[in-house]
Amino acid sequence: MLESLRSVVSLKPIERDRTTRRLSKAANIDDYRAMAKRRLPAGVFDYIDGGAEDESALSRNVSRFGDRTLIPRVLRDVSNIETSTSILGASASMPLIIAPTGFPRIAHPDGELATARSAARHDIPFSLSTMGTRSIEEVADVCDGRKWFQVYVWRDRELTKDMLARCKENGFEALYITVDTAVLGRRERDVRRGMALPPKLGLDTFIEGAMRPGWTMEFLRNDPIVFSNVAVSTKRLGDNTEDGSSAVSLAEYINSQFDPRLSWDDVEWIRSQWDGPVILKGIQSVADAKIAVEHGLDAVALSNHGGRQLDSSPAIIDLVAPVADAVGGQIEIYCDGGVRRGSDVVKAVALGADACMIGRPHLYALGAAGEAGVDHMLDFFQAGIEQTMALTGVNSIADIDRDLITE
Ligand SMILES: Cc1cc2nc3c(=O)[nH]c(=O)nc-3n(C[C@H](O)[C@H](O)[C@H](O)COP(=O)(O)O)c2cc1C
Repeated sequence: MLESLRSVVSLKPIERDRTTRRLSKAANIDDYRAMAKRRLPAGVFDYIDGGAEDESALSRNVSRFGDRTLIPRVLRDVSNIETSTSILGASASMPLIIAPTGFPRIAHPDGELATARSAARHDIPFSLSTMGTRSIEEVADVCDGRKWFQVYVWRDRELTKDMLARCKENGFEALYITVDTAVLGRRERDVRRGMALPPKLGLDTFIEGAMRPGWTMEFLRNDPIVFSNVAVSTKRLGDNTEDGSSAVSLAEYINSQFDPRLSWDDVEWIRSQWDGPVILKGIQSVADAKIAVEHGLDAVALSNHGGRQLDSSPAIIDLVAPVADAVGGQIEIYCDGGVRRGSDVVKAVALGADACMIGRPHLYALGAAGEAGVDHMLDFFQAGIEQTMALTGVNSIADIDRDLITE
């Protein structure tokens, strides 16, 4: 009896590290999302997870990836798969980029530092947001990998100029101009919870926080969450009214900086201030992609801000082929919104994208398990791209083309 029991039971050693144990049960992005939901106060989770209005753009972004099918090809010797590729003229281990997101430190106190270190280890570009919670300098200190910076063109041009100068001094390689935020989208989960953009860490958050003691203790133990990039530049420009110690007053200041008059002239202005590559983020039509080419931009990032702006915007994967047909080869094409698996990356590349970007996946992973979570999530994407390539019979990113995907 004991003998036959021994032959079928295999006792694995118990993993002592709690984070590793938790992550070993995460099989996909939904699992990191569920873990983050358990750890984060509800208002914080909803700020990350939510979209505009009925969240139809948010769900369409994901579901349209699922609707596309790949054509499996067999008997093609896939023993030597290579996922590395070129993005903006330099190599990356896979066609993936960390998208810029505001306020990452609400997911985990290490915030951008954890994600930037993980991106460098995985040899993919990391993007820092103007609304970031770690400064250009802090990120440069910990990350010797590829670093990109995202700007909004604000009313205060001196502030934008100063941030660009800091990017240059700190080895940032490329710049995004986010153009889909002429005004802010209506995020109804945040309206219900009374969360403003950027979120104010008010009484409600702390009441919820009492139900999430792990997050609350980390939050209290660490330095305050502020818009570090804005705080450093306002100080450098001699404005001591915003010393970065108060997230709330800084938030009000930032809201006053969004400029609905933004136009192509402002894009030209940014280009005149920056001698490196410039990416327009938030392009959602063939017509605008063509104008981006006329203005000599280096790349367009097809994006509806993860469904957080215009809720009636198209699913991002549906834009890739029309834009690639119109401007492919003249400008690099990235896309984000709903990328949740390696197979999604392969689908976007097959339709003509040079790389995909991920927003929520890295915030969920950060919220689930900090830096170890981001490492785990990037390994998941790497493995997923490789596996999809094996099952569709391609050995290199350059070999992924339209023949691989149903229209
Ligand atoms: C919480 C959150 C904050 C974001 N903040 C910014 C930002 O500051 N600047 C920006 O250009 N895009 C921002 N985005 C949009 C992302 O860069 C990206 O376009 C989007 O998340 C992609 O969709 P996905 O979340 O489905 O991957 C944010 C997205 C989220 C979820």
